[in-house]
Amino acid sequence: MESLKLPKGERERCPTGIEGLDNILNGGIPRGNTVLLTGSCGTGKTTMSLEFLVHGALAGENSLFLSVTEASSKLLSNVIPYEFFDESLISSGKLTFIDMAAMYDRLGLEKSEFTFEDISLLVDSIGEIVEELAIKRLVVDSITSVCYRLKTEEKIRDFILRLGKVVSEKGCTTILVSEISPKEERYSLYGVEEAIADGIILMGNLERRGDLLRTLQVVKMRGTQHSRTKYVLDLTPVGLLLVPLLKGGGGV
Ligand SMILES: Nc1ncnc2c1ncn2[C@@H]1O[C@H](COP(=O)(O)OP(=O)(O)OP(=O)(O)O)[C@@H](O)[C@H]1O
Ligand SMILES: [Mg+2]
Repeated sequence: MESLKLPKGERERCPTGIEGLDNILNGGIPRGNTVLLTGSCGTGKTTMSLEFLVHGALAGENSLFLSVTEASSKLLSNVIPYEFFDESLISSGKLTFIDMAAMYDRLGLEKSEFTFEDISLLVDSIGEIVEELAIKRLVVDSITSVCYRLKTEEKIRDFILRLGKVVSEKGCTTILVSEISPKEERYSLYGVEEAIADGIILMGNLERRGDLLRTLQVVKMRGTQHSRTKYVLDLTPVGLLLVPLLKGGGGV
């Protein structure tokens, strides 16, 4: 899973380790990007984020999952069945899970609405963890749950821009998971998140012949050329598999 040799001037990549996605992205996510992984419930966002981290950890990059919605102990049960998952990644510190609730508790942020000072505190605290643990891949699942406590567009913008800057400066590539309703016309709940993220990967559901398929589409990715084709996504014990929708994915 080494970075491909890139033409002059091309940005270094953070290969996701998901072959189909790395092909779409011409080698992977440009390193340091903040990517919004967005979709409705059950589309595979958490599974894909975990796979991104496990592949990073296997390649020697320290990886952190910041869990806002689910207890991290529960998340582990999602990765353990994977053939490529190795529990020593956790004991060796290559793969770390932290519950955001514990961070809020530690920082005195158990409140329904954050101030700009609270945002600074939270971003600095995440930055310190990224620095201390030398994290190169970060997932926040989900940013939407953090946004509920930010409330205003200004604060959401402030949080995402600050977080992106702090971690990107440390060479860390970030996936922010975003939850939207199936009929959503935009890519994020508040509309702000999508505008400031460096990339958007959209996950969806598609009904075909009585079956509900999962789909994936890269909508934007700063720093690389990429296909915007819709792919059918299969969650398998060997990881995510992608087939272009029009090339027979989903039996069309
Ligand atoms: N390796 C796998 N093989 C088959 N099914 C899987 C696999 N991994 C996850 N799933 C199934 O895929 C579904 C969705 O996965 P996931 O939790 O990643 O979606 P999500 O987009 O994060 O959903 P939510 O918005 O509810 O958090 C779950 O029902 C899960 O059982
Ligand atoms: Mg999820």
